Amino acid sequence: MDPCLAVSARHIRHQFADFLALNDVSFEVERGQTMALLGHNGAGKSTLIKILLGLLKPSGGEVIVLGEQHSGQRADLKIGYLPENVSFYDKLTGKEILSYFAALKGIGKKRVSQLIEEFGLEYAQDRALKTYSKGMKQRLGFAQAILSEPELLLLDEPTVGLDPVASQFLYGKIAELKLQGCGVIVCTHELSLIENNIDIALILAKGESLAKGSLSQLRQNSGLKTRLTSANLATWVAQQPRLAAYYADDALQLDAESKPEVLQLLMSDCQAFDFSIKEPALAEIYHFYMGQCAQLEVVS
Ligand SMILES: Nc1ncnc2c1ncn2[C@@H]1O[C@H](COP(=O)(O)OP(=O)(O)OP(=O)(O)O)[C@@H](O)[C@H]1O
Ligand SMILES: [Mg+2]
Repeated sequence: MDPCLAVSARHIRHQFADFLALNDVSFEVERGQTMALLGHNGAGKSTLIKILLGLLKPSGGEVIVLGEQHSGQRADLKIGYLPENVSFYDKLTGKEILSYFAALKGIGKKRVSQLIEEFGLEYAQDRALKTYSKGMKQRLGFAQAILSEPELLLLDEPTVGLDPVASQFLYGKIAELKLQGCGVIVCTHELSLIENNIDIALILAKGESLAKGSLSQLRQNSGLKTRLTSANLATWVAQQPRLAAYYADDALQLDAESKPEVLQLLMSDCQAFDFSIKEPALAEIYHFYMGQCAQLEVVS
């Protein structure tokens, strides 16, 4: 396996009794790269994460994680995991929980105190977990996941229950880990939040890979247009008739090919500089692919 890869998954299939939860899913995540794992409820995201972690053995296909072939349960230091529903023994205090995981992994107390401080949990570290709010538990769960400074981080809906500042802090931490070469897979429904924090995305639908690639690749393959708007747009279109072909819905609708030409026309022929450009958001891209999947079902 390429040493730059954190994960290589090929033709993954997983069956729960007679239900096919994953079918022929392949993807790669490089070290230092973040992949968003997206899809509807029940698409197979958590199942895929559990397979990468070694909690589930796939019914078919090949998984190589940090250069090692899948070999059952991983009590591996190098993989950090935040489960979908964080649940620790709730009579223990936050500090006791982190200390327990640190001891299991042979990590010193200093790291525990450092994380408690970084995650703003000092004031509650000696309180039993049952007194923690949802967001506090989530922060503790994330601290647990990164205790060992992992080389692969698997996060299953990490920002559920987090306030906006805590979410931003979490993505800041992910950025730090990425710089250290950690590969990150984030499973989430919070598309606007993750949009600026990922390198690639894999969209699953009904256990199958619907689309994958960088945001710009997904954008381009979808054919969704970039919107250029301005208060002066109608005047410019009247001034330069070649712009009319792109004018619809109070905007110039551009694709990767037409964008340079149109910008050139606007700036040279209309002396236009006060406009704004909006690329299709991840949410639009996601809905586009999900819509395609629904259409295919209607046709077949
Ligand atoms: N242990 C299991 N036994 C049987 N079916 C299961 C099991 N775990 C998951 N499934 C089924 O597999 C499918 C995928 O589930 P999974 O939890 O991976 O979805 P998900 O994409 O994570 O969804 P969500 O966004 O709701 O978390 C679902 O139809 C689910 O009911
Ligand atoms: Mg899930």
